[in-house]
Amino acid sequence: MGKRTKKIEKINPNEFGGLLYDHQELDAVLHVLFDAKIFRYAGRKLSKVDRFENEIKKYLRVKYALGLNSGTSALKTALYAIGVKPHDRVLISAYTFIATAASVVNLGAIPIPIDFDMNNCMNLSILEQETNKGCTAIIPVHLQGRAFNIEPILKVARQHNIPVIEDACQAFASKYHDTPAGVFGDIGVYSFQQYKQISSGEGGLIVTNNENYYRRAKIYSDHGMVRELMSWDSTEAMIGDNLRINNLQAAILRVQLKKVSRLLVRQKKNRSYILSHIDSSNIKSIVNSGDIEGETGMNIMFLTSSAKIATGLIAHAKQRKIEFRRLWDRPYYKYDVFRVNKLTPEYLGSANCERAEDISQRLISLSISPTLSEDNLKNIVLEIKALLGLKYII
Ligand SMILES: Cc1ncc(COP(=O)(O)O)c(C=O)c1O
Repeated sequence: MGKRTKKIEKINPNEFGGLLYDHQELDAVLHVLFDAKIFRYAGRKLSKVDRFENEIKKYLRVKYALGLNSGTSALKTALYAIGVKPHDRVLISAYTFIATAASVVNLGAIPIPIDFDMNNCMNLSILEQETNKGCTAIIPVHLQGRAFNIEPILKVARQHNIPVIEDACQAFASKYHDTPAGVFGDIGVYSFQQYKQISSGEGGLIVTNNENYYRRAKIYSDHGMVRELMSWDSTEAMIGDNLRINNLQAAILRVQLKKVSRLLVRQKKNRSYILSHIDSSNIKSIVNSGDIEGETGMNIMFLTSSAKIATGLIAHAKQRKIEFRRLWDRPYYKYDVFRVNKLTPEYLGSANCERAEDISQRLISLSISPTLSEDNLKNIVLEIKALLGLKYII
């Protein structure tokens, strides 16, 4: 084995699942290569992708799971599965990564930004208001390993019979009072890109308990039909896309899934160490979900009292070799591409997202890697204390 058992060099503290790659992932990949079946449908027996999907079903306690090649593909597939058509309105959290909105646009539909809410993800009265104008889907977004309490969103959605797709791309394995992010709504969507809790570099997944959604998702993501069950002459067939995951990715993810609990325990321990060693009386606003036990927080998030203070802290932290950063510095529609495409609240006639615009400027985060050593942790604590000593009011 020699080199094969050597630990792969670690570089980026923002990486999570990928930080624990070792000979197990390597062996799993080699197994696929020696088998010469990377394509999920190349073999006759259960493929690595099938096995991964079965393991996920047990892990998340859901009826159906479909592996895909990215979180963005999973969002598009979920939107197709619930029947989103061109020009439909889809209500999405304003405070999210651009992919949530882009997936809606890619299906020809219109993303309507709903203002952010620290407890439930979306401002409920604006949600209600926009739902009353009509929509085909609602997409709340769980942030950075923190599962929101989206029950109030589900309540609004159920009253109007609108399906909810949870964008849990950043929150695999996080829970809100024992229910995993992605399992509350009608379809849950995950990403396994490099910086996620489990990772195959790129990868995605949807989960659902609805057989019809699962079947439509399978059709859309594999060229518009289901192999061995139908042809393109079938009334169910469509002009679909190729969004498949492969056996190499699935083989890595199967190993990562076995490791995820260990990784999360380490991450939590590191996070608690830092929080317990800094004088929390100086820090008014550490951002947690309503269920700290269920968090798979990839970072410690602080809500500063002004954009200026956030900018100052980031700059001073950089000088001290600590990386504080803004999660996103604006709601997605504030990027020029959305203005150019007339997809901002003013063009859409939708409510302003003042809270999202404000929070995005004030929220700063410090990545907490599960691989931090005790020395690293002590150093981070010292640096944070020094920063707080600069009399910033957090
Ligand atoms: C909230 C959110 N949605 C969707 C995505 C898209 O996932 P992917 O990069 O796997 O396409 C990401 C990726 O980071 C994300 O953070």
